[in-house]
Amino acid sequence: MSILDRFKLDGKTALVTGGGQGIGRGLALALAQAGADVAIMDLNEETANKVAQEIKEIGRRSLVYIGDVTVSKDCNNAVEMIINKWGKLDIAINNAGIGNWFDAENYPEEEWQKVIEVNLKGVFLCAQAEARVMIPKKCGKIINIASMSGHIVNKPQNQTAYNASKAGVIHLTRSLAAEWAKYGIRVNSISPGYIRTPLIDSEPVKKMVPEWLKMIPLGRLGEISDLQGIAVYLASEASDYMTGADIIIDGGYTVW
Ligand SMILES: NC(=O)c1ccc[n+]([C@@H]2O[C@H](COP(=O)([O-])OP(=O)(O)OC[C@H]3O[C@@H](n4cnc5c(N)ncnc54)[C@H](O)[C@@H]3O)[C@@H](O)[C@H]2O)c1
Repeated sequence: MSILDRFKLDGKTALVTGGGQGIGRGLALALAQAGADVAIMDLNEETANKVAQEIKEIGRRSLVYIGDVTVSKDCNNAVEMIINKWGKLDIAINNAGIGNWFDAENYPEEEWQKVIEVNLKGVFLCAQAEARVMIPKKCGKIINIASMSGHIVNKPQNQTAYNASKAGVIHLTRSLAAEWAKYGIRVNSISPGYIRTPLIDSEPVKKMVPEWLKMIPLGRLGEISDLQGIAVYLASEASDYMTGADIIIDGGYTVW
């Protein structure tokens, strides 16, 4: 088979959490363009339905599950919906995530908890639900969205919960990869740097961007499209010998 054919996802089914906007939307559309049917799990019904429509316009099937990744019943139900409708789940991108900024000494406990719950527990609960249906098939690709913040400490903003949660996602990925290799399930993560999403245009973030740009060797923010290639690679058989890896896509931020 030619190398380009090995990147194709024709006949595959996928789930993308937090796929209603931003990076999740971009990765869901990338999987669909590569040939997969893609289900979206998100809290926001309106945006999730819009992305589902975009997937259908690409010519693929799409499903929406409105649910919370921090609730195991929701994760299980999302996967069950896919199995009931499509019969199998080949690919899962655990992308839903949140952040907040507080100085460590004044971090409100409930704000810390929220970030760890969504970013770390949410990834685990989704991966668990996904693996339960992948194990009997002896194959599957799980892709967790971590962050360069799992490798470095961002500045000038203080975000210990986010940084710790993303470092957790990277090591959770390795742990699951080790446990599930015997079932043919590959588990890898992607660590994006600063990506231009609507969040970047919000007031508190906007004024930080010039500072960030000075710390990025390539001199620009990442685009969502900069992450699409790696997602398709990790979802496809071209990456069959890769598991437990974390791929940093950050314009070189972490090398300085
Ligand atoms: N934007 C960046 O620069 C950047 C950089 C590195 C990593 N990341 C990571 O990429 C992922 C996506 O980021 P984004 O910027 O696209 O975020 P975003 O806020 O634009 O989108 C997140 C999506 O997840 C959904 N979501 C949030 N909490 C959820 C929950 N509990 N259950 C189900 N859905 C939920 C939201 O409704 C939304 O649709 C996150 O894990 C984030 O930490 C983002």
